[in-house]
Amino acid sequence: MVKRLRAELSRRLGAVSEDAAFEAEVLLETVLGRDLRLREILGTADVSDGDVEKLNRLADRRISGEPLQYIVGEWEFCGLGFSVGEGVLIPRQDTETLVEVSLGLIRDIEKPRVADLCAGSGCVAAAIKTARPDAEVTAVELSPEAFVYLEKNSAKYGVAPILDDVLSPKTAGRFSSLDLITANPPYLSAHDMTEISREVAHEPRMALFGDDDGLDFYRIIPVLWRDSLSDGGYIAFEVGLGQAEDAAGLIQSAGYKDVGIRPDLTGRDRVVFGRK
Ligand SMILES: C[S@@+](CC[C@H](N)C(=O)[O-])C[C@H]1O[C@@H](n2cnc3c(N)ncnc32)[C@H](O)[C@@H]1O
Repeated sequence: MVKRLRAELSRRLGAVSEDAAFEAEVLLETVLGRDLRLREILGTADVSDGDVEKLNRLADRRISGEPLQYIVGEWEFCGLGFSVGEGVLIPRQDTETLVEVSLGLIRDIEKPRVADLCAGSGCVAAAIKTARPDAEVTAVELSPEAFVYLEKNSAKYGVAPILDDVLSPKTAGRFSSLDLITANPPYLSAHDMTEISREVAHEPRMALFGDDDGLDFYRIIPVLWRDSLSDGGYIAFEVGLGQAEDAAGLIQSAGYKDVGIRPDLTGRDRVVFGRK
């Protein structure tokens, strides 16, 4: 029965997915349990009519273009589980580079004070806090819809969530003596927004669209948040494709030293950082 369901789901999901077999497995495990493969081997994997109905409903949502991650309600980032759904950006593997670079920048600082701006699900903040339990990590997010997920994930991983606008001087003024500011801000340009896929279009526009050239957050944050950093404190951003040089120039013009660019696992420039 499970085999037949798996084949049928894969066939249906093939209409929207390049990896239908993987997606079928994820939906099967969502409804029938994570230990499904083991129970199949033991011959104890039962499927009720209700399970089949549920699976068909989830498959219909997926076929209508809803991202798999929203349907499942949870996604993995840096090996940690995050609650996700409508209204929050799905954590991307590319963003793990921001975590890796950030952890390197604060390696020699004891009890570092960290603020993650534009926090979304809180994946960056939580990954830093998990790797550095001695750190004091605050996550700032403006969208009330995303904040629901940020609060839930922050409680799980020991991060302090704040609902506020990172482009407001008042918000920056709430912070002082930070050792590190991280941000994966909205950075798609007006042109990029015309080319996003059906799945990405399901994610909040506020999480994606930067401004006409996608660079506003890199223009504003280094200047606005400079006084919130301790002397020698770091700022590290994720950047979009082709934005690294421009973002590095903006950080440099805001008076930061030791400005650097790091590639992600695919070799694309993905993170830009500087030191006050
Ligand atoms: C690209 S998403 C990144 C989310 C998360 N850091 C991640 O890497 O998955 C950008 C986030 O910035 C938030 N955002 C947009 N404008 C903001 C602002 N002015 N102040 C605070 N957060 C903002 C969006 O709601 C969204 O959650």
